[in-house]
Amino acid sequence: MNLKGRDFLKLLDFTPEEITYFLDLAADLKDKKKKGILHDELKGKNVALIFEKTSTRTRCAFEVAAKDLGMGSTFLNPTDSQIGKKESIADTVRVLSRFYDGIEYRGFSQDIVQTMADYSDVPVWNGLTDEFHPTQMLADLLTIREHFGRLKGINFVYMGDARFNMGNSYMVACAKMGMNFTAVTNKKYYPAKELIDTCKEIAAQTGATINFTEDAMAGTKGADVICTDIWVSMGEPESAWAERIKDLSPYRVTMDIMNNAGPDSVFMHCLPSFHDLGTSIGREIKEKFGLDEIEVTNEVFESDRSIVFDEAENRMHTIKAVMYATLKG
Ligand code: CP
Ligand code: NVA
Repeated sequence: MNLKGRDFLKLLDFTPEEITYFLDLAADLKDKKKKGILHDELKGKNVALIFEKTSTRTRCAFEVAAKDLGMGSTFLNPTDSQIGKKESIADTVRVLSRFYDGIEYRGFSQDIVQTMADYSDVPVWNGLTDEFHPTQMLADLLTIREHFGRLKGINFVYMGDARFNMGNSYMVACAKMGMNFTAVTNKKYYPAKELIDTCKEIAAQTGATINFTEDAMAGTKGADVICTDIWVSMGEPESAWAERIKDLSPYRVTMDIMNNAGPDSVFMHCLPSFHDLGTSIGREIKEKFGLDEIEVTNEVFESDRSIVFDEAENRMHTIKAVMYATLKG
């Protein structure tokens, strides 16, 4: 398998074999890291990390992974650079690809990261757009594989806002890897029909199934993984909260949902999560709407069914694999 020079923009661009290759490579790099085996095989290279939206995990994962691989990194945000205001994405990327060996971008539409890739001479990696979050998918697939020992046939249920980056990405990931995807949510929040059709075509090849229901109990019965995300994403207006709370409250992940799924089911969340009053947004929601917890209860989040921190750790190992595979080959 040689992925040298490839962009990493969305999982739709990769075959199941290529995705498995990233996961195997990540597992190997994770093992090396745990054993203290140096793997600075990309010494002398440098990467640019562009963030038009905020981040904890993705930014830190890229920085630590680059350092472990022996690379230098530069973090850029729109406030401290010319991006957007004084210089177009196309011009910026043509400059950066003369300095750097790879470019990560987190921001708004998928078209922007696609434009960057079109103009870049070096690999471009998608660190989250409104449509897709592909590095998160590799972390989640690795975490599920570590936990259950397989991906094929896993019953994966996604609750909440299934029409944004996370819902879209999970549907694609499940279709590619032969998993059974079910979106359990209000039908206003189902992914776009065109993407559903694409995923159904892929599923027909891999043995996956793609399902939708508004019935929280029927949809979560027998699930191996129950997954959710925040109900209002970065870049969406604060005014969206009232409608989301009204529409999505029946799809909060509770212990009743976990018990309905079954005793061996696990809870996943890309994070950050509003499961308590430990955030300023969480406290604002409490003041306005009287809710102590939003997309998941604190009981589920803190339970031993929750594997969210294993999932978060795997962001670093899988992002390292993406950089390694596309820069070293
Ligand atoms: N899951 C995730 O992408 O986290 P950050 O927003 O902190 O990068
Ligand atoms: N849907 C969330 C994911 C954060 C990692 C957002 O876009 O804000």
